[in-house]
Amino acid sequence: MCGIVGYVGQRPVIDVLLGGLKRLEYRGYDSAGVAFFQDDLIEIRKSEGKLANVEKLMNGSRNSYPDARCGIGHTRWATHGKPTTQNAHPHRTGHVVLVHNGIIENYQEIKRDLISRGHKPQSETDSELFGFLVLEEMENGLGLFEAVRKSFSLLEGQCSVVVMSEREPGTVVGVRNGSPLVAGLDPNGGAILASDAQPILEYTNEVFFLENGDIALCSQGGIQFFDLKTGKKLNREKTKLDWSVDKIDKQGFDHYMLKEIYEQPAALVDTLNGILDRIKTDPFPLAAQPGVKLLDQAKEIIFVACGTSWHAALVGKYWIERLARIPVNVELASEFRYRDPVLNPGALVVGLSQSGETADTLAVIREVKAKGIPTLGITNVRGSTLSREANSVFYTSAGPEIGVAATKTFSTQMLVLLLWAGYLGLKKSNLEELFHDIVKLPHQIEDALSESNGMVAAIKDAARGLQKAKGFFFIGRGFSFPIALEGALKLKEIAYVHAEGYAAGELKHGPIAMIDQDMVVVVLAPQDSWRDKTVSNLQEVKARGAKILAVGGGLDQNLKELSDFWIPLAPSTEALLPFVMTTVVQLLSYELAVLKGTDIDKPRNLAKSVTVE
Ligand code: G6P
Repeated sequence: MCGIVGYVGQRPVIDVLLGGLKRLEYRGYDSAGVAFFQDDLIEIRKSEGKLANVEKLMNGSRNSYPDARCGIGHTRWATHGKPTTQNAHPHRTGHVVLVHNGIIENYQEIKRDLISRGHKPQSETDSELFGFLVLEEMENGLGLFEAVRKSFSLLEGQCSVVVMSEREPGTVVGVRNGSPLVAGLDPNGGAILASDAQPILEYTNEVFFLENGDIALCSQGGIQFFDLKTGKKLNREKTKLDWSVDKIDKQGFDHYMLKEIYEQPAALVDTLNGILDRIKTDPFPLAAQPGVKLLDQAKEIIFVACGTSWHAALVGKYWIERLARIPVNVELASEFRYRDPVLNPGALVVGLSQSGETADTLAVIREVKAKGIPTLGITNVRGSTLSREANSVFYTSAGPEIGVAATKTFSTQMLVLLLWAGYLGLKKSNLEELFHDIVKLPHQIEDALSESNGMVAAIKDAARGLQKAKGFFFIGRGFSFPIALEGALKLKEIAYVHAEGYAAGELKHGPIAMIDQDMVVVVLAPQDSWRDKTVSNLQEVKARGAKILAVGGGLDQNLKELSDFWIPLAPSTEALLPFVMTTVVQLLSYELAVLKGTDIDKPRNLAKSVTVE
């Protein structure tokens, strides 16, 4: 997940680029850079670290190149190659300069071909390779626009690029295919492209949301859109972003909950940056922090938590036991405290709480600490009671969560636990691949949430079709079981609809008696090692008349045919599936709550932080 900006117009471009990148820095800040025309030549300034480092390179002033009027900029979240200056964007290949957001999946193949044709890529990135393809096409006589169009057809994966060439000063070409790209016309003349609408709103509130497969040609004269495949001109409608002060706060979303669901990619980026030491070589170690020592010493881990945090801990149990072979127990804090539990030497008690203030969780931490058992906290709030009272703390970095129903804090809690599992498991087995996958997670969630992906539309359809149902069961096996619990909880919390989460194999031991045509069973059956067993359980409830909403791998035709409503998931590695499924159950309850007209951000009877027993 990276942020990109491109501009050509009448304003000093450095100011437009740095101002725009500042607003996009939430998308990644491993490194940053800008490229701009000085007369007919392109200059590049880039640096590892935050955008401020690039500002320093501009003689400390955004006005340092007042005559430059055309350029591109980038703030990076590294996926291929470490966050170094060399890997930072923009990348230059001869007279071609580009920025890129997303992943080129067939980059190894492309790299091999380029090297065999005598090219010498300078960075470890997949992005740079695209510049060579464009350069070759331009050397063969194509103009920049056609060269970009043709070269892009060789790429596999979801990404966006913005490209310039010294052969065509004053032209900026952008392509969207997966990763978001928004455009706007500068009222002073010219056009701007960016990864979201924020940098554009500074100049105009009328924006064009590019669709997948759009290519945009920007010049002093404005902007034109074309179909990437056919090259035919397209008419793209402007959208007027008429945001009230309240909406600006919610960044255009109708509710904080929805905004926070969409903030998950950025929250995952921030949490990864807080916990992994990504400057070190792969596989990335956990950043040096006192809590790591306690983890290293643990012979057994006991999680105590409430509500959504308890569900995150349950997912963590599957991961830690599977990857690290350390026994894990997950306890409801309110039960654990009064049960007089057995605490073995070597046990580590972990309080998991987004607020860090939940009374029951804190009470357990105090009590076990008094018995000399080491305690760790995982919380989203710096300075919270949990962070002060546990022996040590790990932070999620989800940012403020205003909606009472936990969404982005849940994903970031799961991420911390997956990183723990990977870290502890690495000592025992070869988990490098897992860390590579985790780094791609924010990008993957962003793709899943993009309107063009199909998942969001399918969820909206399902919500419309199911709004009158009398009750819901959410079922799943393995990692999907805790996600089923979380799905049911979300639906109860914000839509006030009765829902239960169940381990798929358990339904026949009682609840199946409730199944009839007014009952919906949400079946979480992604392509993982539990899929076939879950589908057998689906058959059991389908035979008894339940309406089936199935969530599964996009290519799972059999599952699709068994379902009344079908939500396809983008391909994902098994470890990352819980994150993608989480977005499905969150959005499903959100859409049902919208149809019911409940107070989504402040559901009745609930509180964000529960400081009473
Ligand atoms: C409240 C909130 C839930 C949350 C639970 C635990 O009930 O409404 O969203 O999951 O508390 O909160 P914690 O801050 O400990 O994660």
